[in-house]
Amino acid sequence: MNHKTMSVLEKYKTMEYGPAPEDPKETLVWLDAHKRQFGHFIAGKWHPPAEGKYFETSDPATAEKIADVAQGSGADVDAAVKAARAALPAWQKLSCHERAKFLYALARQIQKHSRRLAVLETIDNGKPIRESRDIDIPLVARHFYHHAGWAQLLEQEFPGHTACGVVGQIIPWNFPLLMLAWKIAPALATGNTVVLKPAEFTPLTALAFAELCVEVDLPAGVVNIVTGDGVTGEALVKHPGVDKIAFTGSTEVGRAIRRATAQSHKKLSLELGGKSPFIIFEDADLDSAVEGLVDGIWFNQGQVCCAGSRLLMQESIAGKLTRKVQARMSTLRVGSPLDKAIDVGAIVAKVQLERIDSLVKQGIAEGATCWQPEIALPSRGLYYKPTFLSNVHPTSIVAQQEIFGPVLAAMTFRTPKEAVELANNTAYGLAASIWSESINVSLHVASQLKAGVVWVNCTNMFDAACGFGGYRESGYGREGGREGLLEYLEPAWFKGAKKLSVESPAANGAAEVANPAIDRTVKLYIGGKQARPDSGYSVEVRGVNGQLLGESPLGNRKDIRNAVEAARKAEAWAKTTAHNRAQVLYYIAENLAQRGAETVQRLSAAVGATRAQQEVDASIERLFSYAAWTDKFDGAVHNPPFRNIAIAMNEPLGTVGLICPAETPLLGFFSLALPLVAAGNAVVAVPSEKYPLIAGDLYQVFETSDLPGGVINLVPGRVSELLKTLAEHDDLDAIWCYGDESLCATAKALSVGNLKQVWTNEGRAIDFFDKHQGEGRWYLEHAYQVKNIWVPYGE
Ligand code: NAI
Repeated sequence: MNHKTMSVLEKYKTMEYGPAPEDPKETLVWLDAHKRQFGHFIAGKWHPPAEGKYFETSDPATAEKIADVAQGSGADVDAAVKAARAALPAWQKLSCHERAKFLYALARQIQKHSRRLAVLETIDNGKPIRESRDIDIPLVARHFYHHAGWAQLLEQEFPGHTACGVVGQIIPWNFPLLMLAWKIAPALATGNTVVLKPAEFTPLTALAFAELCVEVDLPAGVVNIVTGDGVTGEALVKHPGVDKIAFTGSTEVGRAIRRATAQSHKKLSLELGGKSPFIIFEDADLDSAVEGLVDGIWFNQGQVCCAGSRLLMQESIAGKLTRKVQARMSTLRVGSPLDKAIDVGAIVAKVQLERIDSLVKQGIAEGATCWQPEIALPSRGLYYKPTFLSNVHPTSIVAQQEIFGPVLAAMTFRTPKEAVELANNTAYGLAASIWSESINVSLHVASQLKAGVVWVNCTNMFDAACGFGGYRESGYGREGGREGLLEYLEPAWFKGAKKLSVESPAANGAAEVANPAIDRTVKLYIGGKQARPDSGYSVEVRGVNGQLLGESPLGNRKDIRNAVEAARKAEAWAKTTAHNRAQVLYYIAENLAQRGAETVQRLSAAVGATRAQQEVDASIERLFSYAAWTDKFDGAVHNPPFRNIAIAMNEPLGTVGLICPAETPLLGFFSLALPLVAAGNAVVAVPSEKYPLIAGDLYQVFETSDLPGGVINLVPGRVSELLKTLAEHDDLDAIWCYGDESLCATAKALSVGNLKQVWTNEGRAIDFFDKHQGEGRWYLEHAYQVKNIWVPYGE
């Protein structure tokens, strides 16, 4: 029926929408003013690409070219990094208030130009104008406002911290300006300067943002934008002048970046893919859940890293719910993204459309049943019908791989336990949505999900005050909130720390050595029991004067595997109350104090008597510190500008491999193992390679201290060999490695497989005797990961 010729009554009866196009005029004028060609934005000015190459960006809804954009080369990236470096000292010299004013001015400017930015985003990306206008751009402004506040409070809230320096930022195409805001606002608020590379499909709003930087007189070089594809991104990642890389995009590229930065000291945060579960229990308000689902999977055509792409339905309601979802899908309007009454717009690029189609076909070949509503798609442009796949096996490609399109894969479960198992049956861990009228069930399930963000009876809630980011292969680091800022800061002492040089223990009082214990043999300590090494080999351990101190077992791959298994079984430690964990740590301190004299005597042979006494004393104090921290390193409750609270919970990482410092065998072990254990992690530690006999002193203390078996496992051996097994082990969630530069680089490079969280000393020396360096929040921040649970309130 022709809408134009319909009477009002006819329109009322059919309830059909007429066309409601947004006027793109202002945006087109802006594009024409730039002659539809853009260079790079470097040091506050526009620069043509060094190699003279441009690429086209086009409107996925019409396939029409919008503009030519510079293809960044190594030379362009180099110029941008140099500009950012040059701008750094003056930017850092500004007072917090001065920097805050710039962020505030940017937020204001974004609001002033919000319509133009929304239209530009929509024509470049294909997302419905309703979304770019009502969600993306307001969130961009909110992000700059919120971070103007952090800039103002930086010195008070983060004393002793310093900015990373020059930050390279690489963003994807699904939320181009919002991802820019998530990257640039915290970087600037903390005193960094940036080089940002937008995605090749959607570079335009970043370039419009560059212009806003000029309008607010942001000092030249503080923000630089270099456009281009993956090759440009790679040049930025590899540039030696960059201190930190922040990346959002596919897990595959995230892995490549992790590999490429392993040999450097670049700090890294990765926000990667997801395959997030959308769990609906039988007691849920089904109509609300269906509306949530529409938002969860068809928002932005499903091209959302945290899309609720796996629907998990309780079996008893599966039939009813499926009918409701399909009925709702039939009312979705797919069409011109500039139409204000469109629900689903265009897919960003042909290659993405083909990828979606190919994955759906593979899913069908694997047995899934495909249902699509009988709705018409526009005759031109890149569109894909909202798709419902049922009979999906949990191992099917469509249940495991990120499709990044409007495709829902549905499965059923019977009990909450089964729901949790299915939900966690993925390598990813970005987000989850739970629908139930029972707050007890919801929060119980939320606490068991391996996901950085959990939405209870809501979905896709984002706010600048609340951290966002993943567990497992969804990356690490958070964006937003206090934890997001920490990604752009470092403790000043750490940044200034000297390179680790392997000191000779002789310098620490070898002359004082007395009565070294002779011929002592220690064992491995796995699952709370002493164990012989699988290899059957031991090594002689010698003291500072070359005297034989005893024999230490040579742990191997099998021992590490056993220890990891024991650690995994000890995960109940995470659920033990913080009070009880503290009690165990106090008890260890008490028992160490009781055995202090003999421990000092034995340790003297390795580090000298004075130092040995200091190590034991400092270790007892460190035990007290972390016993104190266990019930004080609390999360937060955020109050975002919606009718929700977001509960930011500090959760342990899980099982962690630990390579201990060689030089301070006792204190080094405690300084790194304690924050992990206090946080509820289970640890597989390789004790000091120089004095592995410390394992014997440690397990004697543990055995009498109520430490549950498997929480701390000790596998002495050759660090270089055991690090490899630990780093490559898929059942370890994180690795902490203390050592020289090459060891730290190895830890980072070898753990790329399952994208473990990594902490290293970056080859720098940490003085564990100095409390300021050796203990506290910095370690705990790495021992936990933050899960944000959003809970709505009100009717
Ligand atoms: P991508 O990961 O290749 O691109 C993201 C950004 O990284 C772009 O700016 C790109 O130019 C850059 N890049 C590509 N290769 C690089 C390299 N070697 N070094 C440095 N930077 C590099 O994502 P793509 O190809 O656009 O999308 C493919 C799939 O990735 C999607 O189908 C989706 O599954 C996933 N994806 C996930 C996103 C998320 O937010 N989690 C965002 C975009 C894509």
